[in-house]
Amino acid sequence: MKKLIVLSGAGMSAESGISTFRDSGGLWEKYEIDDVATPNGWRRNPGMVLDFYNQRRRQLLKSKPNAGHFALAELEKEYDVQIITQNVDNLHERAGSTHVVHLHGELMKVRSTGPGEEVFVVPTDKPDVNPGDMCPKGFQLRPHIVWFGEAVPEIEKAEYMTYNADIFLIIGTSMQVYPAAGLIHNVQPGVPIYLIDPHEVNHLSYEITVISKGASEGMKEFVKLIRALEVKL
Ligand code: APR
Repeated sequence: MKKLIVLSGAGMSAESGISTFRDSGGLWEKYEIDDVATPNGWRRNPGMVLDFYNQRRRQLLKSKPNAGHFALAELEKEYDVQIITQNVDNLHERAGSTHVVHLHGELMKVRSTGPGEEVFVVPTDKPDVNPGDMCPKGFQLRPHIVWFGEAVPEIEKAEYMTYNADIFLIIGTSMQVYPAAGLIHNVQPGVPIYLIDPHEVNHLSYEITVISKGASEGMKEFVKLIRALEVKL
């Protein structure tokens, strides 16, 4: 099966009612990145950081995958679909995608701030994590999120996946945050690249087939295009 490697971002979940970051009204218009998504913010005010992620976790529990998520899961019948997502939601998995790599962490997980940094799943019936919530060894629990300035442990795996793509799809990301945005440089010459986004995205002057639509509608057009490609090959 051909490897369809997908790089998804916040726009993938926009139609599920989850805010993006840099669109008008996006999360970074309401919160200071330094306050809620950096190690400094955590050191300064862990309660504010925990509350930021508690709110996003509660919103996620009220959200459902959209047609775009389901279309990607459906494509697993025809392609080896491997998703590299910048999203911390679990909507790809809940739509049925079986190969998802979270570059920036996962909202439904927390980890110990002590040695070993053990990871724990947040129970859906107790979605809040507060100051004083400790791991079994007595260390404060923190969101299992990659904050700005922190290492991106999964990036080598993502680079390898992208290097082996037969088709590369970028969907719902403004391509402004590295190293995720740099993954496009790992796509081998001649491998077709598609981009689904209703707005203009700077795609680093690569030869790209742009589908200027939202995720759900865009995925319908994308599936038609790659099926036509199969016929040609
Ligand atoms: N369908 C597809 N794309 C959409 C839709 C939609 N319905 N609505 C908006 N978009 C597009 C926007 O046009 C934009 O290009 O989704 C993109 C969202 O861009 P950002 O808000 O910058 O989100 P993202 O690219 O995922 O941000 C990357 O930045 O703050 C960090 O860690 C955070 O993972 C995030 C990273």
